[in-house]
Amino acid sequence: MKRASLVLFIGLASLGLSACGSETQEPVEQIVVREPGAEAPVAESQPVAQSGDLVAAGKAAFAVCSACHSVEAGAQSGIGPNLNGVVGRAAGSLEGFGYSGAMSEANLTWDAGELDAFLTNPTAKIPGTTMIAGSVNDADKRAAIIAYLSSLSQ
Ligand code: HEC
Repeated sequence: MKRASLVLFIGLASLGLSACGSETQEPVEQIVVREPGAEAPVAESQPVAQSGDLVAAGKAAFAVCSACHSVEAGAQSGIGPNLNGVVGRAAGSLEGFGYSGAMSEANLTWDAGELDAFLTNPTAKIPGTTMIAGSVNDADKRAAIIAYLSSLSQ
């Protein structure tokens, strides 16, 4: 991932709020320009994508899936099967869901690699699947969605 060549932190603070007197002061604008590689203050030196951020991004990206998939443990399946615990689960194995023959016979266990291939192109990965929508072209989005699904398996 490319790093921004410089980072601007613009802080606006109106000191007027904390002033004791009745006189209000002009807002103070602070601009800090940091060159790449320069040591960042501790509070700002977070990695670009911590796993928590990735899960949050995946949860947001999952919005396109939630039309068909529930994720809460024990929740009723929708048009697609409930995906709680899907990472590590055998394909087509959720009790009571009416899978296609193709999915029932897929004979694979969902891990990051299998999910990535399936979400890239469901019908190419499992010809005959009834999941005909929900492909995700963006690899970063797929990774985020898979991280989110993994977080639901714990
Ligand atoms: C239009 C409805 C629909 C959308 C949108 C959709 N799916 Fe599905 N999904 C299904 C159906 C239906 C199945 C069952 C397919 C079969 O039996 O062949 C399925 C199956 C799956 C499975 C296999 C589950 C298992 O128990 O084996 C996974 C994983 C999955 N979907 C993930 C996703 C993700 C992630 C998204 C969003 C990026 C998504 N789906 C979007 C309908 C949908």
